[in-house]
Amino acid sequence: MLVKDVNQLIGNNPMIDLQMEIPKQSHIYAKLEMFNPGGSIKDRLGQYMIEKAWKEGKISQQTTIIEPTAGNTGIGLALAAQKYHLKTILIVPEKFSQEKQILMKALGAKIVHTESKDGIQGAIKKANELAAEIRDSYVPMQFKNADNPAAYYHSLGPEIVNDLQKPINAFVAGAGSGGSFAGTAAYLKSKNQATKLVVVEPEGSILNGGMQHSHRIEGIGVEFIPPFFARMNIDHTLTISDEAAFKQVKEAARQQGLFIGSSSGAVLAASLQMAEILPAESTIVTVFADSSERYLSQQIYDTESEEL
Ligand SMILES: Cc1ncc(COP(=O)(O)O)c(C=O)c1O
Repeated sequence: MLVKDVNQLIGNNPMIDLQMEIPKQSHIYAKLEMFNPGGSIKDRLGQYMIEKAWKEGKISQQTTIIEPTAGNTGIGLALAAQKYHLKTILIVPEKFSQEKQILMKALGAKIVHTESKDGIQGAIKKANELAAEIRDSYVPMQFKNADNPAAYYHSLGPEIVNDLQKPINAFVAGAGSGGSFAGTAAYLKSKNQATKLVVVEPEGSILNGGMQHSHRIEGIGVEFIPPFFARMNIDHTLTISDEAAFKQVKEAARQQGLFIGSSSGAVLAASLQMAEILPAESTIVTVFADSSERYLSQQIYDTESEEL
């Protein structure tokens, strides 16, 4: 394959039929989103939001892009903004992985830190303050922009249907902004009303009504209910512990040669739980949003869970 622009490599990633012990002879299929050039599912979002804003005349060569992000959206946006030589300022709570921050800078973005204790809400507030100060700035604002679910409705959803060409019993995915879950789920439902929708969060996220607290799983977990979930019928919300997620991260590498990040570990743990509940020989689809390689400084393979 010959390409002229890395942006051509976004999407159309492989889907793996996981070869592991799965309850009731079900299959878990995982879309491998770490194969995007920026290394995560969020390349789809960065490309979609920048291209759309450019076409609609919301941004021009003089525009500064500002966005609050845990990191992967920042990388996706910085990659997309490069094409138009746009300045990019990313507002990142300090706690998020060094690797992601190094990559954002490598792409030419500037990082503004907010305090970890203020969470993503602190980053949103800071982004809005900066946007008020900087002339000709544009905040895509993934947390409420309808382009966020739309990006996945038009890419990830159709790809999954094409990859499998058979009925899907359950779609299991994590929520950070909730955009990838909502957009993909809406597309899958439009093709098959029987598909169960299963959203995954870490312990410390509030979807199941739990108390908000910090967690090691990175990229998913919400501090407020995503507006994209307002008109959705979600069948199950599974809350996964750090320990359960990191156990799957380790096993995926040892047993299947897969370098998956902690949000992927969480959705894999949740998919295995669903296999117990669903009828035998179910088709379960999930999404591995990024790779463990961007969490090595956080000892992703060095947790205290027992040896395999
Ligand atoms: C590693 C990882 N997994 C999952 C997600 C979930 O994405 P969304 O914001 O679409 O809910 C993200 C978002 O940043 C992420 O970085």
